[in-house]
Amino acid sequence: MSNVVVVGAQWGDEGKGRIVDWLAEKADIVARYNGGHNAGHTLVVDGRTYKLALLPSGVVRGKLGVIGNGVALDPEALLAEIGRMAALGVHVTPDVLRIAETATLVLPVHRAIDAAQERLRAKPLGTTLRGIGPAYEDKVGRRGLRVCDLAEPELLAAKLDVLLEHHNAWLRGLGLEPFQREPMLSDLLAMAPKILPFKARVWQLLDDAHSSGKRVVFEGSQAVMLDVDWGSYPYVTSSSTIAAGAASGAGIAASKLGRVLGVSKVYATRVGEGPFTSEVDGALGDLLRQRGGEYGVNTGRPRRCGWLDTVQLRQSSKVAGIDLLALTKLDVLDGFDSVYLCVGYELDGERIDYMPASDAEQQRLQPVLRRFDGWQRTTRGVRSYSELPPQAAALIEAIEQEVGIAVAMVTTGPERDDAIVLRPPFEDADGRKV
Ligand code: IMP
Repeated sequence: MSNVVVVGAQWGDEGKGRIVDWLAEKADIVARYNGGHNAGHTLVVDGRTYKLALLPSGVVRGKLGVIGNGVALDPEALLAEIGRMAALGVHVTPDVLRIAETATLVLPVHRAIDAAQERLRAKPLGTTLRGIGPAYEDKVGRRGLRVCDLAEPELLAAKLDVLLEHHNAWLRGLGLEPFQREPMLSDLLAMAPKILPFKARVWQLLDDAHSSGKRVVFEGSQAVMLDVDWGSYPYVTSSSTIAAGAASGAGIAASKLGRVLGVSKVYATRVGEGPFTSEVDGALGDLLRQRGGEYGVNTGRPRRCGWLDTVQLRQSSKVAGIDLLALTKLDVLDGFDSVYLCVGYELDGERIDYMPASDAEQQRLQPVLRRFDGWQRTTRGVRSYSELPPQAAALIEAIEQEVGIAVAMVTTGPERDDAIVLRPPFEDADGRKV
């Protein structure tokens, strides 16, 4: 078995991009299967920072990138990102990027609806306002436009009319400006010749790759706690972020996905609204934010910070199919006198060891914290487990025990190789290790 699925195990922003980048060196293809340009994946390569939103993280190293059918693709955002990458010397051509012909398109009307829906909500969700949710609504509402429609101008116009008729009724009802077919149609037709060369039968490409023994990294966006089924609904994104989502969102049999690597920081962050039981307010939360550089990659929003929640991580690992953990940003905890893990919850005075489904119950949870001695020595750039301060090693071992899943790697800095590798995630049936 040679593939690996990388899944965010918390609320997103765990550092999946750099883990995918590390794995990509040993893989042939990096495939995105969910989300869109609401994602923000940061890589640091040779001291240069790359901020990706829609492009699979492997493109920076010239690996074939695939955007699967489960991705919500904003053609304008994609072309702008390709332009930004070109300015950094990374040329994204159809030789290095293939896009599923069935991927759903995100349109300007979706962005406007995203903003209007947020304004109308008594409690806004704190979406990224990129139009991702409304685009997925159109997909399941069976009126969405897809990449392959860009090749059929007449059909595209007719489909756009149906889509706008639906949304304009809602916009007019709220006294908002309806959308006209023009200039949206002419903009789409102008972008079509730039997007269509990337169009591919991704399912076939992945099947052929698998048959010929090539290695695929499936790059999840967002995270289990933002999954539309398994996250803290309704404070979630609108796609399937878990390993099962990689099969349906890329077009490959679940049995061919391989290992599932869940990525988690050694603390926790969340952007946007929603319950966050182990959140730390005040000066300590600010310190975590400042040390961890916890601001949105593409939105710049400050992230809420807290301690690692092992109850959440254990439950998320089970539903997402995670069988190995990558722990990131250990060095951010350097210099704290004490560090904590959330190892249980109290709900209305009763101790529980699972995350309840009800939004109201989640809001009432109190964390049960376990204290650990901090360490004063830096772990920045440490690449061997034996060089870690014993307190840091004790924390990692406690995380493994509480979550019940082995730690495959721990990252200690932003560069790709600032990592301690304990168990190589690629391990084939024939014992071939990478
Ligand atoms: P949407 O995906 O823009 O609809 O936003 C829904 C929720 O998911 C909001 O709480 C966002 O902050 C969160 N979200 C979406 N993408 C990301 C991400 O890449 N990292 C972290 N949070 C995200």
